[in-house]
Amino acid sequence: MVQPSPYTPGAVARETPGRSRQLAEISERLDMMSATGRLVSRIRVDHGPRGVGKTSLLRQVEQRAHARDAATIWVTAGESAGLVPAIADGAERLVRRWPVKLRERVATALSHLELKVTGGVPGVASIEAAWGKTGGRRARGATREFEDLLVATVEVAQERQFSGLVLLIDEIQAAEPASLRTISYAWQHFQSERRFLPVALFAAGLPESVSVINAAVSNSERFAYRQLKDLPPDAAAVALANPARELGVGWSADAIDAAVRYAAGYPHTVQLIGENAWRHAGFPNPGATIRREHVELAAADVEEDIRELFTARLSKVTRQVELEMVLAMARLGDGPVRRHDIAAAMGKPTDALGVPRGRLIGAGIITDSSHGYLEFTVPGFAAFVREVHDLDDPQG
Ligand SMILES: Nc1ncnc2c1ncn2[C@@H]1O[C@H](COP(=O)(O)OP(=O)(O)OP(=O)(O)O)[C@@H](O)[C@H]1O
Ligand SMILES: [Mg+2]
Repeated sequence: MVQPSPYTPGAVARETPGRSRQLAEISERLDMMSATGRLVSRIRVDHGPRGVGKTSLLRQVEQRAHARDAATIWVTAGESAGLVPAIADGAERLVRRWPVKLRERVATALSHLELKVTGGVPGVASIEAAWGKTGGRRARGATREFEDLLVATVEVAQERQFSGLVLLIDEIQAAEPASLRTISYAWQHFQSERRFLPVALFAAGLPESVSVINAAVSNSERFAYRQLKDLPPDAAAVALANPARELGVGWSADAIDAAVRYAAGYPHTVQLIGENAWRHAGFPNPGATIRREHVELAAADVEEDIRELFTARLSKVTRQVELEMVLAMARLGDGPVRRHDIAAAMGKPTDALGVPRGRLIGAGIITDSSHGYLEFTVPGFAAFVREVHDLDDPQG
């Protein structure tokens, strides 16, 4: 008998150790909503670099919402013409199998939104098409219709004994400004007019979500931004040990230490090293132990995977100034580096970094860390760049 690996590289994590603080804060909001029927008045956005665990966190939120008998709508922004139409579509699908009388209330609200967005052109059934064509410009006046749609959906959900409605939006940085504006105004109106509407919105996205949202909306205080960071060592150890233990397989202490050190807190690497160690241990049966030598063999494989990932990301660096910036950062070291120092190393003023910075963030190569600092998204990226470009290791 062999046991397949319980690790999840490239897929949503089944459990999210290291995220208990985020989930406690979110659960508190969900409790408030479901127990008192009240609006969650701020839109929480957990943002972080690729592979840090945003989607996995948001799926945990979804589970917690279901545990509190809330209905949920999940939307990945950027997948269709607009975020608001995608939410409208989600609402329609949520109520699809409910009794006609309930369904019709949502359908009516939906048709009002459609009419508004399509400019009342008869026969244009899909908001999405209109939204796509005008970039949501017509949506300007559609905030009220969007609100009515949410209200109708929440009310019929309550008739179905749901405690409320939770909207979950992944990849929010890909949302278009018109939708972000519509949503933030809707929340602003709810805040003063409908405090007893049990609805909540939780979002996740790349670091640029913050600037994308702030550029689109004028009332950015409706949003609560939280940075999602790498896992602390304890959480990475739990992420490795727990799935194995559930299958009756142990990790030796030095194997766990080596794997945790290797992954350096990056969730994607945690799963990769776990999966490969599992394989090198021969898809262990209950009672077996994963040992240090398995981790060492695994590290060699993961190294290859990660180098491929780095190579793929670096291949997106096409402009000279971007490459210069990557090299300057790699020379400066492995952790966060000051923008000021990067600019100085490039012999440029700090504000000349704006454009390349934006593009490198978009390519998943660097990310904002604390204020005025930038860093590579994945541990080991700086060292890889130094190796490929034959740069000296940073002093100190
Ligand atoms: N708390 C966690 N502990 C251990 N592994 C995790 C944790 N969260 C996520 N992972 C794993 O890390 C990898 C990336 O997770 P996920 O897809 O949720 O990240 P993401 O931030 O949404 O990535 P992307 O930006 O590419 O969408 C997956 O392999 C997932 O199984
Ligand atoms: Mg994701």
